[in-house]
Amino acid sequence: MALYSEKVMDHFLHPRNVGVIEDADGVGEVGNAKCGDIMKIFLKIDGGIVTDAKFSTFGCGSAIASSSMATEMIKGQPVEKVMELTNKAVVEALDGLPAYKLHCSVLAEEAVKAALKDYFDKNSIPYDPAQFPDAPSCASCEMH
Ligand code: FES
Repeated sequence: MALYSEKVMDHFLHPRNVGVIEDADGVGEVGNAKCGDIMKIFLKIDGGIVTDAKFSTFGCGSAIASSSMATEMIKGQPVEKVMELTNKAVVEALDGLPAYKLHCSVLAEEAVKAALKDYFDKNSIPYDPAQFPDAPSCASCEMH
């Protein structure tokens, strides 16, 4: 069996939504302390809907594929729905990742959430801080 699914390879080789949104409403940047990979996600939000999402990822193929899929999944979605995005959903949409690469998808969930937090902060929108843990869980990942 191939190590990576066709979808992972497709999103790695042809990533969607690569780039920067200059006038983004929310920007989230997270990093994995161990591998040094960095992911930045930009969101345009209009009337509570994520109208555009782009990413810049300096990282492994799984992180790039996860960023690409995550941005595809959240475009056109209401903020409340985007808040519920999990790395598990991203991995399922990619038809799986090898177990030792699952943490790469965590970066995508964290970057999206960090961008939403930035949007909430900039617009003084109240939220439950418990939804945004301070330390990215990937930083303490013991998987590599
Ligand atoms: Fe660092 Fe994938 S995010 S190896």
